[in-house]
Order: sequence, then C-alpha cells, then structure tokens
Amino acid sequence: MNITVLNGSPHLDGPTSDMVSAFAEGAGEKGHQVTVFNVAHMNIRGCMACEYCRKTEKGVCCQKDDMQKIYPALLESDMIVFASPIYYFTLSAQLQAAIHRTYSFDIPERCRKVALIMSSGSKYVYGAAITEYFQSIVEYWGVENAGIFTANGKQNKSPEKHRELYEFGRSL
Ligand SMILES: Cc1cc2nc3c(=O)[nH]c(=O)nc-3n(C[C@H](O)[C@H](O)[C@H](O)COP(=O)(O)O)c2cc1C
Repeated sequence: MNITVLNGSPHLDGPTSDMVSAFAEGAGEKGHQVTVFNVAHMNIRGCMACEYCRKTEKGVCCQKDDMQKIYPALLESDMIVFASPIYYFTLSAQLQAAIHRTYSFDIPERCRKVALIMSSGSKYVYGAAITEYFQSIVEYWGVENAGIFTANGKQNKSPEKHRELYEFGRSL
C-alpha cells in the first residue's frame, strides 16, 4: 500500500513522532511505501473558503503553498494516517489546517483506510479529536477505521507504545 502520514507535531523527536516512526518502521518492513509529512514544519495556510476548487478549477487549490507537495501523495494513498499531539482537547492547528485543505479534492478516491495517532499529557482528552475529526472523516470518506492509538503521561515515548505502533504497522 501507499501510506501517507500527516504528522501535526512540531516536535520531531517527541512522543507523536516516536509513534509515527515506529509505525513507519513496521509498515515498511511489510513492504508498504510510507511517506511522512511533518506538517507543523511546512508552510500550510488555512482554507480561505474561496471556492476556487469548486467553481473555477475543480479539485485544484489556488493557494500555492506546501500543501501542493502533499496533494499528490494523498490522492495516491491507499491509507492515510493522522498523527498529532492534543492541543486544547483536539488536533494541533497545523494538522487541522492540512485537513481543512483537503476540501479542494473533497474525497481521496483511492484511500481505503485511515488511522489516528495521538499523544497528550493527560488521559481522557481525545473525545473531540476522535468524534469531530476522525470518526467524521471515516464516515465522510467512506473508509475503514484501521485504528486509534493514544499515549499519555508515562506512556509517551515508552518502549511498550513504540512496540504497539510497530506491531500495528507490521499488521497491515
Ligand atoms: C498548546 C498546547 C496545548 C496542550 N493541550 C493539552 C490538552 O488539552 N490536554 C493534554 O492532555 N495535553 C495538552 N498538551 C500537552 C501535549 O499534548 C503533550 O505534551 C504531548 O505529549 C505533546 O506531544 P509531542 O511532543 O509529540 O508534540 C498541550 C500542549 C501544548 C503545547
């Protein structure tokens, strides 16, 4: 499978990125092609709701920023993984901006599965991210929920969590 990961953490050595690396390692070992975009370090503006993609040039976003590097990967993905720290009970703003910009193509036709990886300080802070974003995207895109993975407190960067994500990658 072609797998694209959108990592919304600015910490490239933090717990979210650690889970992403473990997942990518496991999936890579099974022969999947994994591409990770660290969207918090890319120039990705919010959707301007100009409707250019709907009215002028169908499926094409008029904002020529780093999202242009991500669009082809998303459209060629069999699986898309969202990864983020929890910021104020939801996904990071950087990841939300990238998700909002999928408005231009609307539904990634090739994608069959999605997964969600999240890190937080506390327990029980994932509800909004799961319902407002992830579960809604699963239903809107008509794809399979391949899994939701969380780490909080001492679980962050733990060998157990690393192993869990590695095994998830290998299970695909
Ligand atoms: C702006 C900001 C908001 C945060 N909001 C929450 C929160 O609402 N709940 C929580 O448990 N942790 C919150 N945290 C803590 C992060 O989710 C936590 O440190 C996480 O492990 C960071 O992952 P990362 O280093 O991989 O990006 C927040 C951190 C920041 C910087």
